[in-house]
Amino acid sequence: MTAPFGCRAATIVARETHGAYVVLRAHDPTGPVPRAGQFYMLRTAERWGGGDGERPFLPRAFSVLRTRGRELHFLIEDVGPGTKRLCELEPGEELLLVGPLGNGFTGPRDGREPLLVGGGVGIAPLAIWQDELGAGIQVLLGFRDRAHAAGAALLSAPVVATDDGSVGHHGLVTNLLKERLGDHVEVYACGPPAMLEAVRAACVESAVPAQLALESGMACGYGACFGCVVPTVDGYVRLCLDGPVLHADRLTSALAFAGAGH
Ligand SMILES: Cc1cc2nc3c(=O)[nH]c(=O)nc-3n(C[C@H](O)[C@H](O)[C@H](O)COP(=O)(O)OP(=O)(O)OC[C@H]3O[C@@H](n4cnc5c(N)ncnc54)[C@H](O)[C@@H]3O)c2cc1C
Ligand code: FES
Repeated sequence: MTAPFGCRAATIVARETHGAYVVLRAHDPTGPVPRAGQFYMLRTAERWGGGDGERPFLPRAFSVLRTRGRELHFLIEDVGPGTKRLCELEPGEELLLVGPLGNGFTGPRDGREPLLVGGGVGIAPLAIWQDELGAGIQVLLGFRDRAHAAGAALLSAPVVATDDGSVGHHGLVTNLLKERLGDHVEVYACGPPAMLEAVRAACVESAVPAQLALESGMACGYGACFGCVVPTVDGYVRLCLDGPVLHADRLTSALAFAGAGH
């Protein structure tokens, strides 16, 4: 089939289950190579929307988890109609994608050591960033329970915290972060708004630079709809164009990014 405006088709080559998450591996023979922290707008070629008036209508935004040659990997948690349909994809079926989009992570300043902090599906952009940075990078990951903590296997040698104490440290990943902050590190974080706000506040208090990969409701992904605008100290910006990675000192809160569905 001909992909609609700006889209191209990528064939699913594998679907893996990691506890509460699905990893889709898609062959994208012609697309540009993504940078860590960039994202794609995804939908399925078939059965996107169950019928007249049934959601999902719009594509959904997903960080790239990692690349392997011409394969793009995406980490997906089934939380609604779009993610449910994507999680059903079988090898041989087609994904329609637009991307890579947005601005990703940039390297640490002043020779600082990268310190990666993720929660839930927010581990996705950290995996490709860890791949790029190389071995020996400190990674702290937080999950709600054992089923979600299975996602930690997608990164190398992470320190894990769970809300219920079923795996690793019992408590918040941000407590592990606070013990490690210092003027030798730069923090890279992605996760739910409350976690990102705790990371932002701790880094500001300790004068540690931090890059936050944020989310807001995105309809187009390339600047056309203004659905993703978020407040910064410089005024409102479109997160799909200016972000999704923003430096923490551009924000007064990461809680403003708690978005709504679409
Ligand atoms: C840049 C970016 C990267 C993302 N990367 C990933 C990823 O790697 N893996 C992954 O599983 N998800 C990721 N997401 C979130 C994903 O896009 C949403 O979960 C998805 O759109 C939900 O679609 P749905 O139809 O399944 O559920 P919906 O019914 O649309 O939403 C389910 C619930 O999630 C809330 N929600 C939906 N989208 C957002 C949002 N953007 N911010 C806050 N709350 C939201 C809704 O209010 C609702 O409560 C990313 C989002 C953005 C903007
Ligand atoms: S998602 Fe449409 S302008 Fe950002």
